[in-house]
Amino acid sequence: MLGVTSPGMVAAVSNEGGLGSLPIGGLSPDAARTLIKATKQLTRKPFAVNLFAHEISSVPRDILQKMWSFLVEFAKSKGYQLDSPSLPEFKFYNHRHQVDMLLEEDIKHVSFTFGNLDNESIKKLHAAGVSLMGTATCLQEAQILESSGIDFIIAQGIEAGGHRGSFLDGELPRIGLFSLLSNILQKCKIPVIAAGGIHHSQSIRAAMELGASGVQIGTPFINSVESQAIPSYKKRLEEATGTDTKLTCAFSGRWARGIINEFMQEVELSGLDIPPYPYQNTLTASLRKMAQAKDDHTMTNLWSGQSLPLQETRSCKDIFLRLLY
Ligand SMILES: Cc1cc2nc3c(=O)[nH]c(=O)nc-3n(C[C@H](O)[C@H](O)[C@H](O)COP(=O)(O)O)c2cc1C
Repeated sequence: MLGVTSPGMVAAVSNEGGLGSLPIGGLSPDAARTLIKATKQLTRKPFAVNLFAHEISSVPRDILQKMWSFLVEFAKSKGYQLDSPSLPEFKFYNHRHQVDMLLEEDIKHVSFTFGNLDNESIKKLHAAGVSLMGTATCLQEAQILESSGIDFIIAQGIEAGGHRGSFLDGELPRIGLFSLLSNILQKCKIPVIAAGGIHHSQSIRAAMELGASGVQIGTPFINSVESQAIPSYKKRLEEATGTDTKLTCAFSGRWARGIINEFMQEVELSGLDIPPYPYQNTLTASLRKMAQAKDDHTMTNLWSGQSLPLQETRSCKDIFLRLLY
């Protein structure tokens, strides 16, 4: 969970026998390596590293400029000063920039979302014995992953918090986990990991009963002690119900599920074209950072799934163990 997961969270889950997952999507190889090294300091157990496998398109400058001018004015009205009237610098990284570093760091489990890995990266990682887990939100995506040699499919239901892993053109697939899981299990042969709305031992057992080989869990860990989520985000999670979340492109230019807040509503109401990921993500980054520094939950993303945490803030170890029993 990029922006939320700390090395301490990854290590806590791996130390208890789960596969903690360290997000490095979109980070420079150096920044990602620092996080990997910090995680290795805290655990000797295996952990996964999570990548973003998106392609980067070009976007007309006037679309970027209009959104940026809107954000500068909106930020000002809320007491935030964005640095400059001219566009921020765009510097993007995807999985291609990170693969060699992962091999140098001897990482053995890699998950990814937003697309598929290119053939060369798949070959290199497999040659080093790395297991690959790709995210699918519909059967067609799962079949693409399977036919390119990926080892596990992560079936991400529409209930899930954070970004959709969808990567095909056309309408966004909006399939609930149980339907998605059954669809994929019927047609694909590789093991499937269930993600979306799993928040207690009963839902874990239900997914396994349907045929999942494992589960991937996000939202229940956001309000853990080790999480990087700001206090007001954790509080909103405690107060919210499933109907308080929705899908939006406002923060990053990619569909993602989060708790509804003022930023989300105002960007959507602006009527402007929202530049695609990762452009919008960069345009909104400094404002989100300033809001987080002031613990302001109205102006930053509050990613959350429809199954909200069942308990108050606890350690990751405690959350993990309670999920099992
Ligand atoms: C705060 C947050 C951040 C997330 N960031 C990532 C990410 O960086 N990479 C990824 O593959 N999935 C990410 N996800 C999605 C999760 O991998 C997973 O699909 C989802 O959390 C499962 O649904 P749940 O939130 O209901 O448990 C994120 C989810 C949340 C809630």
